[in-house]
Amino acid sequence: MKEQIIALLADAAELDKEIITDILEIPPRADMGDYAFPCFQLAKTLHKAPPVIAADLAQRIGTVDIIDHLEVKGAYLNFFLKKEMFVKSMMEQALHFGASTIGEGKTICIDYSSPNVAKNFHVGHLRTTIIGNSLYKIYSKLGYQVERINHLGDWGTQFGKLIVAYKAWGSQEAVEKEGVAELMRLYVKFHEEAEKDDSLNDQAREWFTRMEQGNEEALSIWQWFVDISLNEYKQTYALLGMEFDHYLGESFYRDKTADVVKRLSDAGLLKESQGAKIVDLEEYNMAPCLIMKKDGSSIYATRDLAAIFYRKETWNFEKCLYVTGQEQKLHFAQVFKVVELLGNEWAKDSLVHIPYGLVSLEGAKLSTRSGNIIYAEDILLEAIDKARDIIAEKNPGLENKDEVAKSVGVGAILFHDLYNQRIKDVSFKWDKVLNFDGETGPYVQYTYCRCASILRSVPYDEQAAIDYSLLLDEEAIALLREISRFPQAVLDAAEKYEPSVIARFAMDVAQSFSRFYNACRVNVEDDSLRAARVKLVALTKTTLRDALDLLGIQCPEQM
Ligand code: ARG
Repeated sequence: MKEQIIALLADAAELDKEIITDILEIPPRADMGDYAFPCFQLAKTLHKAPPVIAADLAQRIGTVDIIDHLEVKGAYLNFFLKKEMFVKSMMEQALHFGASTIGEGKTICIDYSSPNVAKNFHVGHLRTTIIGNSLYKIYSKLGYQVERINHLGDWGTQFGKLIVAYKAWGSQEAVEKEGVAELMRLYVKFHEEAEKDDSLNDQAREWFTRMEQGNEEALSIWQWFVDISLNEYKQTYALLGMEFDHYLGESFYRDKTADVVKRLSDAGLLKESQGAKIVDLEEYNMAPCLIMKKDGSSIYATRDLAAIFYRKETWNFEKCLYVTGQEQKLHFAQVFKVVELLGNEWAKDSLVHIPYGLVSLEGAKLSTRSGNIIYAEDILLEAIDKARDIIAEKNPGLENKDEVAKSVGVGAILFHDLYNQRIKDVSFKWDKVLNFDGETGPYVQYTYCRCASILRSVPYDEQAAIDYSLLLDEEAIALLREISRFPQAVLDAAEKYEPSVIARFAMDVAQSFSRFYNACRVNVEDDSLRAARVKLVALTKTTLRDALDLLGIQCPEQM
């Protein structure tokens, strides 16, 4: 129907359809029409006041079968479509929502999660994991090939320290038993002892140099630390139900940093500064980008530069997205600038840092394993436990309780994280996160279950033709209107790198469904009315499932 409106307007205004398509809007409220055409832009070319243009257009369009009436309101020409036709068109369109093809043949790399070996997977890493995974789903839905990359922090001088500490105060049993917690303890111990005895620092540097030179003993201890850590991280990923296409940590680039240094020096970009090598970025109002330390070792930025060239050569990405906390803003700005200075124009549009706000855990009682260190896994497990308690109380007879508790507990955390713009800080309160009546994941999941339950209990024939004139209740139209925003919401979310657009959309649909369900009984006597309403319920159910899936959230059929 939108196409028809566009054609009518293009004729009346004597303009190209593309121009009309850009201008035509879907108003925020139903009393403003089904479509609205603002005339501000035409005023310039036509040298008339916008309200005059709107009135002219209305007159030229005249009466048309699909239009109930037109309304000129200020600079706007509002279209009110014949309800029945509008409903039919939205229903048919929504029933055929599918994956889009705009990303076909294009690749997006997403660099996210990327915890640091021998350190705990903390709440910050939980956010990058959740946001990155959702962006992966959103871009995949649009037809892009997405490479999910885990850029593990698995290289650097800290591993020299760890080896020293392990040899001095550690044991194989303790590391095997306690895993990352023990590695963190050793790391802290190293710093305490190094305060008193500076020679430990020299030893640590030596061990890291050995690692860089390929010393077998150094590398086998390091590899063991990596394996132990990765093993723990994978438990967290398993709880989240998330996977990666590539674990390519910083260590993967250790033999590729020399090439970066060469490229920079060939381009005349490398400068000496106090024995180190840097790229001066003063002209761009940034601190210099450190490339090589005095002792010749590479750093975080060098490995990021190597990674960019590797990814560009391997996947020829259209975009490479980096999901990290906002404190890394400068780091990425520097690295991206250096890539650009090497004559890569694509760096400007293709490399994107996607920052997010902090997580605070006020009011959250967490069972911490040691000291005040919070593990993401513990938060997830606690959410699952709490969900299990709620289920035991509200629906003790439920089958596969454990599985449902996992979907609900984890879903609650994911939804809470993704419901607000990612740059906003997230604060954690269990009763808010898991509230079944609030604006929460469980509420949307519960709405999904209600739809599922209706479809189980109300008899209907899936093949029956639907009489759309039976869906003219205000609440039914409002619900359909929400649902039909789905494709646009996916596009917006991708364009802004903002999963919250999808989370808000899911919530709007869920709330709209509640209003519909309160106002319109589904299990009515009349076969045709029942069939029409059931169809709308089925459509709501698939839409909620698809939207939650884009957030990484599962939908149990009962809860
Ligand atoms: N390991 C880093 C951290 O935990 C994040 C890495 C982000 N990705 C990158 N290519 N630098 O802060």
